[in-house]
Amino acid sequence: MTIFLILVLVAVRAQAVAAAGVSAMFIMGDSSVDCGENTLFYPLLHRNLSLLPCQGSQTSLLPYLLAEKMGLPNRPLPFYRQNGTIEQLTSGINYGSAGATIMNIDSQSHQCLTQQLRQVFETFQLLDLHLGQDSAQTFVNSSIFYLSFGKDDYIDIFLAENTTTTRSREFAEVLVHQVVMVVRRLYEGNVRKIICMGILPVGCAPKTVWELGGEKNGSGMADGCVEEVNELVLEYNKMLADGIVELQKELFDAEMVFCDVYLGVMEILANPAKYGFEDTENACCGLGMHGVVIGCLSEEMACNLSSSPHVWWDLYNPTQRVNSVLADSAWSVDQEHSAATSICHPTAVKNLFETSLLPPYHVP
Ligand SMILES: *[C@@H]1O[C@H](CO)[C@@H](O)[C@H](O)[C@H]1NC(C)=O
Ligand SMILES: *[C@@H]1O[C@H](CO)[C@@H](O)[C@H](O)[C@H]1NC(C)=O
Ligand SMILES: *[C@@H]1O[C@H](CO)[C@@H](O)[C@H](O)[C@H]1NC(C)=O
Ligand SMILES: *[C@@H]1O[C@H](CO)[C@@H](O)[C@H](O)[C@H]1NC(C)=O
Ligand SMILES: *[C@@H]1O[C@H](CO)[C@@H](O)[C@H](O)[C@H]1NC(C)=O
Ligand SMILES: *[C@@H]1O[C@H](CO)[C@@H](O)[C@H](O)[C@H]1NC(C)=O
Repeated sequence: MTIFLILVLVAVRAQAVAAAGVSAMFIMGDSSVDCGENTLFYPLLHRNLSLLPCQGSQTSLLPYLLAEKMGLPNRPLPFYRQNGTIEQLTSGINYGSAGATIMNIDSQSHQCLTQQLRQVFETFQLLDLHLGQDSAQTFVNSSIFYLSFGKDDYIDIFLAENTTTTRSREFAEVLVHQVVMVVRRLYEGNVRKIICMGILPVGCAPKTVWELGGEKNGSGMADGCVEEVNELVLEYNKMLADGIVELQKELFDAEMVFCDVYLGVMEILANPAKYGFEDTENACCGLGMHGVVIGCLSEEMACNLSSSPHVWWDLYNPTQRVNSVLADSAWSVDQEHSAATSICHPTAVKNLFETSLLPPYHVP
């Protein structure tokens, strides 16, 4: 009797697992997906960014919060921390690297988009070897790929070169072309579920506001956001959203969503109290006025977020609390804390997960 019960329980459990929508999550991106854990020599090469561009650990970041909502049993491992065993590969991998750009501007330091793509294809080859081609393909086409780039291209190249008025459209076109090309390459590698993130309002980040804000009043405080910078980011987001829609039409057996984190963060900045925020201007972790002279070097430098809820963690990155609101709004429209509409198009991430046509693959 007991054995029978156990068997039934095991069977029910196996079914519950098999009903889950995806096999694993694979992540590519910049400091929106990596705290520096996956960045070789990050302490040396962080330039003027934070040593700790996120609050505590990778799990405070948006893709990990989404993976949690999906109930994925394993956390994606940083590429440089995994050892190529099948258990680890099938847990999902995070290729992302703090400071990574779309453009390959600075090859000795951060891993740009195409370098991360190369590592993805290395993983595919290993999966082929471990599982055989058929199973590897099923595993890949039932996994979710999450891409989040672009912020650092604007911070590093565009703002640094100060060409804001002259070639903004061409710049966005080049970036979007690269991202769309990479999505296409992933598709050719049998990837079928893709979440592509836009760029958050960089013009509202503390570093931008205090450096470029200009409109400082008597108290030396700047007001609001730097519109010029936000317009650049909006142009990129719009172009990328259109690019993904076009690609989806062509690659109709894939499921792609574009998530507009710009919209989500602006909603929070417009109604901070509604989401439980008090400080929308200062970096929680950083040195100097408003915490933007030097980025976050250690957690000891951080403010107490329980007594003073900040929107911004450091120079350009939001706090975990912001990421939680974004995760809710990306996941579905009816979450308690989500913005009124989902920030993802054409559908919320939950639907991408649940309407899966593919049974998730389980490594035997
Ligand atoms: C860091 O910032 C300083 C002052 O803003 C600048 O002169 C320097 O070039 C920056 N270093 C890097 C590596 O970007
Ligand atoms: C890979 O890492 C896992 C977990 O840390 C460990 O259990 C396993 O022995 C490692 N395998 C090899 C071949 O290093
Ligand atoms: C996923 O891969 C398996 C194995 O190659 C294949 O049978 C299945 O049709 C693929 N599904 C999609 C949607 O590509
Ligand atoms: C960019 O250039 C304009 C005009 O050349 C100048 O007024 C502005 O201060 C510069 N901005 C930065 C961030 O260097
Ligand atoms: C300057 O702007 C800040 C932020 O909007 C505001 O709190 C402060 O009262 C303003 N100071 C003056 C002198 O207008
Ligand atoms: C942070 O603030 C909360 C609420 O005021 C307080 O309970 C907590 O002890 C503080 N934590 C630290 C590390 O100071």
